[in-house]
Amino acid sequence: MTLADIDASTWRELEAAAANPQSGFRFLNLCSVDAEARPQARMVVLRRADRSLRLLEFHTDMRSPKWQELSANPHATILGFWPQTQLQFRLQGTVERHAAGGDQADAAWGKLSTWTRMTYAGGPPGDERGFDTIDEAALSRPVDEAEGKPHFGLLIFRVRTLDWFQLRRQGNRRALLTYDETGALAASRWVNP
Ligand SMILES: Cc1cc2nc3c(=O)[nH]c(=O)nc-3n(C[C@H](O)[C@H](O)[C@H](O)COP(=O)(O)O)c2cc1C
Repeated sequence: MTLADIDASTWRELEAAAANPQSGFRFLNLCSVDAEARPQARMVVLRRADRSLRLLEFHTDMRSPKWQELSANPHATILGFWPQTQLQFRLQGTVERHAAGGDQADAAWGKLSTWTRMTYAGGPPGDERGFDTIDEAALSRPVDEAEGKPHFGLLIFRVRTLDWFQLRRQGNRRALLTYDETGALAASRWVNP
């Protein structure tokens, strides 16, 4: 396997994962830094990958803390691990936020299922729920999916470095790849795992 193969196969996997809920890289860990300089991590669903521009797309609620964190500090790390292939991808880069009402967010909203739209229609993520609302009747009460639209935001993550690691009994392997601002592969090298 060459460094060029690692570049190509990583992006093939990410593009496949965006279309396949069974992929090991469908759910990724998005790590940001909060206002107190503390690391924050959470799982997100990979919605789209673009191998030529080296972009990953995620969806989130604009009222969630991560939206503010990424506004103040757009540097982020994405971590993924697929047990089946024993592969870890550690991607560093910056996040652009595309708020509700913009063309990109509206286009992505238009492709969501009703069920997914509903997830944006509740109260602000992380806000306390009164005891009286924690009952099944309240949770299953129908909400209007359109109520979610003003809260729906896109996160576009631009990858600048890929730290590729494969766990193997016969010897772990690790490679570092960097991409320039246009998405072109700028450098690649094997490093000690
Ligand atoms: C499997 C899984 C997938 C998730 N996908 C997303 C997602 O795509 N977008 C999102 O905003 N939150 C997603 N969440 C919830 C986040 O992990 C997190 O709990 C929530 O967004 C609040 O994050 P914050 O307080 O750091 O902003 C997912 C959670 C799980 C368990």
